Amino acid sequence: VNAPTRVRVEGDTPYDVVIGPGVRGELPVLLGSGERKVAVVTSAGPRRIAQQVVDELMAAGLQPHLLEVPDGEAAKTVDVASGCWAELGRLGFTRSDAVVGVGGGATTDLAGFVASTWLRGVALALVPTTLLAMVDAAVGGKTAVNTAAGKNLVGSFHEPAGVLCDLTVLASLPAEELVSGLAEVVKCGFVADPVILELVERHPADAVQPTGSVLRELVERAVRVKAEVVSADLREVSAAPGRVGREVLNYGHTLGHAIERVEGYRLRHGHAVSIGMVYAAELARLAGRLDAETARRHRLVLDLVGLPTRYPTGHWEALRGAMSRDKKARGDQLRFVVLEGVARPAILSGPDPRLLVGAYAALSGAA
Ligand SMILES: NC(=O)c1ccc[n+]([C@@H]2O[C@H](COP(=O)([O-])OP(=O)(O)OC[C@H]3O[C@@H](n4cnc5c(N)ncnc54)[C@H](O)[C@@H]3O)[C@@H](O)[C@H]2O)c1
Repeated sequence: VNAPTRVRVEGDTPYDVVIGPGVRGELPVLLGSGERKVAVVTSAGPRRIAQQVVDELMAAGLQPHLLEVPDGEAAKTVDVASGCWAELGRLGFTRSDAVVGVGGGATTDLAGFVASTWLRGVALALVPTTLLAMVDAAVGGKTAVNTAAGKNLVGSFHEPAGVLCDLTVLASLPAEELVSGLAEVVKCGFVADPVILELVERHPADAVQPTGSVLRELVERAVRVKAEVVSADLREVSAAPGRVGREVLNYGHTLGHAIERVEGYRLRHGHAVSIGMVYAAELARLAGRLDAETARRHRLVLDLVGLPTRYPTGHWEALRGAMSRDKKARGDQLRFVVLEGVARPAILSGPDPRLLVGAYAALSGAA
């Protein structure tokens, strides 16, 4: 049971996402032996885990250096990246040295950005320590920082040598963070893998237990969904005709991003995406593309793990404005990933404004 699970991500430089207790032991192999320097980029939340990584690398004969960056989103700035570059310069980092990101998605995004820019790219390995980072941020090779122009507008594609997910590190994660990460897991269930939905429906309490077998299976399944989508559409360029491509991962995110923006990012990402998925389901139902039962199932599954499924009335104008500013809108047309059934994603572009308003009314619970 405790043997690690390996999920391959294909591409120019294929790598594995490895899931299971003790998988960090693979780090020295991933990084290659020798007199290599390793910058272990981390933040205050997962510092204890990063310290263990440093000790393990040292024991394996590598030369680790801890680089602590500000916690959470505050790490994703050009200034913080610049501080890291200065440190790498001071340490005499060469092309054969490596960066390891230990933390949530914000830390792994920044670590990836630093690794991809230093000497135009050095080796990177990721040890995600939040559920969201394990199933989403650390898988797929995207790195990013935020700028005055907006979130995640500056970044690069830089595939890691490997991603090591040890679920025992989730024991110290605040419960709200774990629940937020589950929204992306449930998303993978709706767009691609119905077994995820069944697992949550049958074992809702176990789904939020970091040490149980249910969460592990959920993580494995969600990682497989993301890995398959990313492998098929590596650079987010296009989808084969009739297929949705990497954009499928955006399910629930059109309204979700708008809610985050309107709320000034006080709402957690997963919570906003949860409401966004209910919205997308209502929209598809009203457009005659999704059956009422599957739309209702969104609320039921998300409710079971404590994710929000309602949003108050009175904010439509602000949300509508924020949605059209979303970088994923094309031209004037709003684009939504919708479902025509579980695991049957499609695109709805430029929906009738009455449907948009109708789906919003349904969110308040009034409809
Ligand atoms: N690159 C991508 O493809 C991609 C995809 C999705 C999201 N993201 C990015 O991921 C970020 C969100 O990631 P997140 O939700 O992991 O948030 P986060 O990185 O901000 O971490 C959340 C909090 O949890 C703490 N923490 C992390 N691990 C911990 C642990 N094991 N124990 C205790 N505390 C711990 C952190 O210190 C932080 O305060 C956003 O910046 C988003 O843009 C990137």
